[in-house]
Amino acid sequence: MASGKDSVFKTLFVAVAVCLVCSIVVSFAAVQLRPQQERNKLIDRQSNILAVAGFEVAGLNGADIADLYNKRIETRIVDLDSGEYTDAVEPASYDQRAASKNPEMSEALSGDEDIASIKRQADYAPVYAVKADDGSIRCYILPIHGYGLWSTLYGFIAIEPDAQTVYGLGFYDHAETPGLGGEVDNPKWKAQWPGKKLYNEQGELAIEVVKSGQVKDPEHQVDGLAGASLTTIGVSHLVRFWMSEAGFGPFLDKLKDS
Ligand SMILES: Cc1cc2nc3c(=O)[nH]c(=O)nc-3n(C[C@H](O)[C@H](O)[C@H](O)COP(=O)(O)O)c2cc1C
Repeated sequence: MASGKDSVFKTLFVAVAVCLVCSIVVSFAAVQLRPQQERNKLIDRQSNILAVAGFEVAGLNGADIADLYNKRIETRIVDLDSGEYTDAVEPASYDQRAASKNPEMSEALSGDEDIASIKRQADYAPVYAVKADDGSIRCYILPIHGYGLWSTLYGFIAIEPDAQTVYGLGFYDHAETPGLGGEVDNPKWKAQWPGKKLYNEQGELAIEVVKSGQVKDPEHQVDGLAGASLTTIGVSHLVRFWMSEAGFGPFLDKLKDS
């Protein structure tokens, strides 16, 4: 019969050996799968951009999405202060989310300016120009984000070349409650956005999302989500922030004049 000392040693030995083998397997899998994860992330981003631009992406495989994206989307970087295109960073590798956490690549927002509750604003943002069949620009897709009730919502708004008419809107990352704030993903709700105008006749920013059932100005107002007024207010604030001077306003002004 084994002594108590022997069995404790054996138990520890087996436990350590199992942990070691498992950690080697997990590390190996993580390293091996990283390129695939990066590829999947890129395809996911490309398909979200294509969807906001009105392309049917359901059922397309990764290669088809990449092909369509490369044919139809041109990415450029905009300096948000001036609204001008810049070559200061490389469009293919620029990560706006990471830049907004880096004090050297972003600015802190004061409480009054920060209606989207994002705390910091990256100096540069990507802009995706979407080409129609004939090569003309169908719309510009602008990345937007801001706080809802439980989470920061990340998405895109597509604006027509008149710099005034919304072409589409969609979020690709948030943690609002399914069935409540999560209804921002409902195609019926998103279908309200195309055709809305950003500015009123005086040139003031007029687009907003109002409490459910309270639309009085259908040209500029989007009906909010029933039972989810807090997410609704967050979406309204973040859209207004990104369409204002603090966001893409200078870029939209330049587009209007071009
Ligand atoms: C578990 C739970 C999850 C909720 N999730 C959301 C949400 O994602 N977005 C939201 O605006 N309200 C959410 N609410 C409701 C808010 O607390 C609040 O009642 C609501 O936003 C008010 O909207 P109303 O004025 O349209 O009724 C949630 C409530 C509960 C209890």
